[in-house]
Amino acid sequence: MVAISAVRASNSAVRSTIGSSPTAVFAGSTEGIGYATMRAFVANTESPNIYFVGRSQQKGESVIQELKQVNDKAQYEFIAGEFTLLSDVDRMATIIIDKTSSTGIDYVCVSPGFLSLGRQETKEGLDRLMTIRYYSRLLFIHTLLSSLPPPKRPKHVLSVLAGTTEAPVLETDLSLSSPANYGKFLPCAAHTATFTSLAFEHLAKQYPDTAFVHSYPGLVKTGGVTGWIGNAWVRWLVEWTLLPLTTPFAVPVTEVGERGLFYLTSERFASREGKEGRGRGGNVRLVQGVEEAKGEGAYSVARYGDEGEGECMKGYRERGFGETVWKHSLWVFERALRKSV
Ligand SMILES: NC(=O)c1ccc[n+]([C@@H]2O[C@H](COP(=O)([O-])OP(=O)(O)OC[C@H]3O[C@@H](n4cnc5c(N)ncnc54)[C@H](OP(=O)(O)O)[C@@H]3O)[C@@H](O)[C@H]2O)c1
Repeated sequence: MVAISAVRASNSAVRSTIGSSPTAVFAGSTEGIGYATMRAFVANTESPNIYFVGRSQQKGESVIQELKQVNDKAQYEFIAGEFTLLSDVDRMATIIIDKTSSTGIDYVCVSPGFLSLGRQETKEGLDRLMTIRYYSRLLFIHTLLSSLPPPKRPKHVLSVLAGTTEAPVLETDLSLSSPANYGKFLPCAAHTATFTSLAFEHLAKQYPDTAFVHSYPGLVKTGGVTGWIGNAWVRWLVEWTLLPLTTPFAVPVTEVGERGLFYLTSERFASREGKEGRGRGGNVRLVQGVEEAKGEGAYSVARYGDEGEGECMKGYRERGFGETVWKHSLWVFERALRKSV
């Protein structure tokens, strides 16, 4: 466990370590965990350039007003779009690439999401939940990494989802499109957690000067926890009876945001080249109470920052299943983007 005091000590050095105007991109940060991470980022940096994504322009503008109270030297830009559609993710990534062509991108944090039950198919023929948890996040990351020249590529990538909970997947139905697997939450949770960790390991080899962290935040009482309950009365009941019982196990959202900043900036989560001392730098040196992590540029971490992984990962790694997952992902991206042209 990385104590929150160690996380804070590391974060307090961010301002003097990573340069005065880092560029960071956040998706799913108009509220909840993404917002808390973005807020921690702007509170601990001098004059960052912030690009962030959500669905509502109005909500984006009001988030900018809030963040200006935290850091009025930062530049903020909101891009409105829909993260359940790969064509829209491609459009937003292209806008961001264009806007950052001179500065490059240093940090990327993706955490858009919602809970839902039952399969809802997008017009691109994909399950909405699979898309927002995995396909759209990885398309976004892949597009930013592959479109910018090496010195301007993102150097730190974080996906807040389900690190360390990797579980066996249905290898004959990777996109869970067969009616037998339609809309079931558990296979979707297993596929998206395992795919994220395998894809990050694959990308860490392809981009050795970029560090990738897949984190699990723990139970965090954000709007997303009960927002999926359609019936307002049932939602009210859950919020006022069941949810308070979980308080002892819940992680406060501000702490999750601080931990997000730590994952993005600490040397504990260095890129492959950074580990060998040849990286571009910009990592905060390990502080007392924080040990070097084992991962090779890709890290799967539990709610308090401990590295770990589901038992299935060893076997998947041994037989190169990550390659299969990544090929499948590229195929899904291509097919969806071709369809939408
Ligand atoms: N909270 C928990 O206990 C918990 C536990 C484990 C894992 N997680 C994971 O952590 C992530 C963040 O959760 P959270 O609790 O912070 O959720 P949240 O408070 O509901 O925030 C979700 C964010 O995602 C954005 N979003 C939702 N649907 C979108 C769409 N279709 N297109 C673009 N943006 C969209 C929302 O922005 P707009 O509404 O402004 O568009 C919002 O900024 C999720 O992936 C969740 O599965 C959460």
